Amino acid sequence: MTDKKYINQNIEPLNTKRNDKGNLEISGCDLVELAQKYSTPLYVMDEVTIRENAKDYIKAFSKYEKTHLTFAAKALMTGSIAKIFDSMGFGFDVVSKGEIYTLLNAKIDLSKTTFNGSNKTQEEIEFALENNIARVSVDNFLELELLNKIALKMNKIQKIHLRITPGIECHTHEYIQTGQIDSKFGFDLHTLDCAIELIKNKYKNLDLRGLHAHVGSQIFETQVFYDEIEVLLRQMKRIKDKFNIELDEMNIGGGLGITYTKEDRPPSIFETADIIMKSLEENTKKYGLNKPSLYIEPGRSLVCTAGFSLYTIGSEKKVEGIRKYIALDGGMADNPRPSMYGAKYCAVIANKKEEAPELVTVAGRYCESGDILIKDIELNSPKAGDILCVFSTGAYCYSMSSNYNRVLKPSMVLINNGKSDIIVKRQTLEQLVQNDVILERL
Ligand SMILES: Cc1ncc(COP(=O)(O)O)c(C=O)c1O
Repeated sequence: MTDKKYINQNIEPLNTKRNDKGNLEISGCDLVELAQKYSTPLYVMDEVTIRENAKDYIKAFSKYEKTHLTFAAKALMTGSIAKIFDSMGFGFDVVSKGEIYTLLNAKIDLSKTTFNGSNKTQEEIEFALENNIARVSVDNFLELELLNKIALKMNKIQKIHLRITPGIECHTHEYIQTGQIDSKFGFDLHTLDCAIELIKNKYKNLDLRGLHAHVGSQIFETQVFYDEIEVLLRQMKRIKDKFNIELDEMNIGGGLGITYTKEDRPPSIFETADIIMKSLEENTKKYGLNKPSLYIEPGRSLVCTAGFSLYTIGSEKKVEGIRKYIALDGGMADNPRPSMYGAKYCAVIANKKEEAPELVTVAGRYCESGDILIKDIELNSPKAGDILCVFSTGAYCYSMSSNYNRVLKPSMVLINNGKSDIIVKRQTLEQLVQNDVILERL
């Protein structure tokens, strides 16, 4: 099934096939057996696909020696997933104390980690600095002041980037666009100089090393990255001329898209890397600057295709002349993306080879009319008890999951050439209520 060249251009993970029993098999694991062994809903991550993908990133950027590859933890953060990226030399982009704690708990130090986020708390900044975070990407004036105060108290000089809003729009969903002018993230270009002035003259415990931007997610146009780098270098040139500060680092965020459905046509990691390096080459020349160290923070394109979710089909409802619904044992709490921003997915029945395709709408089990996982998809005569495999759920599903309707969060399994291991246990009822406080007087 996987006939295209690069992982983010495929819907299925590597090594996806039908086995002799007619069941879907991925990385040597029969999905029906996985569902029986671990029960559904179940998140599954294929380690082989993650590692091959990460290797592609390493190879694609190997021509630019000063590249720092970091994994955007917000896409998928668990101890074992972090260990995989750490073992491959990646650093991390984190946005909370919880993400930092997950790294430390997995015995990963913060020497290659950047702390991002638009409203970091004092407690979070203190925790990051106590644990020697490599870089903080400062988002606003309040944070500049707070960070300097904390660094001063700890007698540290903290290396920072300034996050800017580059004013670039990319054609992705409004909620996952972040680089356009009307955005809650970063300093806009009018206030940047004021921030630099403060760092230069007042905030002596901050060491400004570079600029940071992130233009959005699920990006299909490589030109966006070219333009983003042009904007960053233009600003770096201006800063050099005006303040006599030569910044030697640039963080361009993440954003490369993946293939959720056949209509999606993302460029490969290699095409993206080439345009990034082309822009660095051409625009450093244009502005007479030295080539900066390049930080990139991909999330989705590193893990999404490696992940899939297994569900058991339950009830069905036929609305005569309109549509047939089939319902799953999961839905918007384990994958909020369709109800949140209309995300589309592909799915197949894992336990049936080609039979009679039937047009259905796949509904979640949650008490919201909007809990529709896939609208209008052809599945092989779906029946109660069948196992549905939804592809491309490796990013922004587990990390955005909730306990809506007090349904327990599913477990996550890591597969690798016929082996499978739990890397996140299914939540228990005891854990669900452990923070409830039942007042005596009630
Ligand atoms: C600052 C920043 N860096 C990196 C990422 C990762 O983006 P993606 O998962 O699209 O690669 C995000 C996602 O929103 C982000 O906000």
